[in-house]
Amino acid sequence: MVDQYWYQKSVFYEVSVQAFYDSNGDGVGDLAGLTQKLDYFASLGIDCLWLLPIYESPMRDGGYDISDYRKINPVYGSVDQFANLLQEAHNRHIRVIMDLVMNHTSDQHPWFKAAREDRQSPYHDYFVWSETDQKYLDARIIFLDTEISNWTWNEATQEYYWHRFYSHQPDLNYDNPAVIDEMFKIVEYWLEMGIDGFRVDAVPYLIERDGTSCENLPETHAILKQLRAFVDREVPGKVLICEANQWPKDVVKYLGRGDEFQVAFDFPLMPRIYMAMKKADSAPIRWAMEQLPSIPASCQWGTFLRNHDELTLEMVSEEERQFMWSEYSADRRYRLNLGIRRRLAPLLDNDRRKIELAHSLLFSLPGSPFLYYGDEIGMGDDVTLYDRNGLRTPMQWTSGNNAGFSTAGQLYSRIISQPEYAPSRVNVEAAEKEPGSLWHVIQKMIALRHDHTVFSTHNFTWIDCHEARSAVFRRESENETILAVHNLSDTVLHLEVPVTRAANYVDLFTSRQYNEDESKLLLALEPYQYLWLKALLG
Ligand code: BGC
Ligand code: MG
Repeated sequence: MVDQYWYQKSVFYEVSVQAFYDSNGDGVGDLAGLTQKLDYFASLGIDCLWLLPIYESPMRDGGYDISDYRKINPVYGSVDQFANLLQEAHNRHIRVIMDLVMNHTSDQHPWFKAAREDRQSPYHDYFVWSETDQKYLDARIIFLDTEISNWTWNEATQEYYWHRFYSHQPDLNYDNPAVIDEMFKIVEYWLEMGIDGFRVDAVPYLIERDGTSCENLPETHAILKQLRAFVDREVPGKVLICEANQWPKDVVKYLGRGDEFQVAFDFPLMPRIYMAMKKADSAPIRWAMEQLPSIPASCQWGTFLRNHDELTLEMVSEEERQFMWSEYSADRRYRLNLGIRRRLAPLLDNDRRKIELAHSLLFSLPGSPFLYYGDEIGMGDDVTLYDRNGLRTPMQWTSGNNAGFSTAGQLYSRIISQPEYAPSRVNVEAAEKEPGSLWHVIQKMIALRHDHTVFSTHNFTWIDCHEARSAVFRRESENETILAVHNLSDTVLHLEVPVTRAANYVDLFTSRQYNEDESKLLLALEPYQYLWLKALLG
């Protein structure tokens, strides 16, 4: 029996095929390489892989610039190898989802090549054109560091085309039913190959209307609801995950009444985890949780600490952004657009206590967690690489040549070389061998999440301990109660945690027992310590 709500209980792992493992020695990771590493995910406890775009692409935006939606970038392998990856993953009960980049194509896509040559081309109306660049002026520019306008001049047809991202990524025109049709056929093509769903890229921007921000428009939702209905009709049990970097009141609309996306990323929470840790004050996390509207029973939030993009600071106030920038990227080279291009471990000073604490929050708060490849071993970043490439360096498997990633002389990217994060110190082989490594802690957290289904529910209650430096909350179901207790500070905290059901508690990590004392738990927490306390009832 297929559990149609599997995505509520899953731990997701975001992986770059390019960066993961090179099986044929050409310096680029590939599908066959990823397939060889499936046991790695199985032993970590991963339920679902999200593959960054693998389509044919000139690769000017990490593959988010697609030139053929039906072809796989040949450097990653063949359709047969992709089918084999799916088969082998499914054999291990690991699901695989792909990125679906609906909003735009590459300027190298044949549709755009034809469209930009001739206004009479049937593909002309696949894109968004204007004689003036003064239309849709209320739409913000997203790639602030590189783009000066959302319009770019096209000489051949003497008009501008519309793009929300790089100027080499023209937006598709979703007012044209032919575009919707094409995109749905592409969706069908990959679903029939056996994938388990899509992380849908940049969904707020499908439709433009003058006098609006051109984001989150009702017409956009109408198309996405059609998409969901289409997917459900094709093959039930697939997931659609929404990437909308927006406020909860807007994001929740992408879940609809359970008839649009099943999962939506929670963007506002992510920077507030870092803020709370830097301030040693849980208020930002509590605030983010209070903003979350309730969601349909069949839906889920997607939570994450990092991903392949800059740590985005779009969903914070100006003051909060300045705080994050000054605290987490004093070196200005780390700033990109409205964010910070750093990986998890360097952001948290490569301090094991802080890195574990952040993961404890990720895994104990409501939502399905998404890990970013390499963060489970504490990989570093390289600020000297262009754009976000410094977060997309080869996975570090061993301390050996090319970090065990490839046998090639030349790789698609440099490997991290700062001594603290170099493969000699940071690699999978060493992490797996050492029982106390970060990798093993994360493996344990994932296992606990699987064992305690209460973590996958929507139930969540903040517990006020009158201590701002703590973050304490209760996850409760009919069968169990778990208190997640966090010390966000670098000092010892003495906490009085009120408990409603008088009970003794056991920490799921250490099996240490904590006894209730007149409806309170008296706890002494080491700096950055966390506990997952399960109530021992009856
Ligand atoms: C992806 C980015 C990409 C952008 C344009 C995003 O939201 O996460 O990596 O550059 O869409 O496709
Ligand atoms: Mg290769």
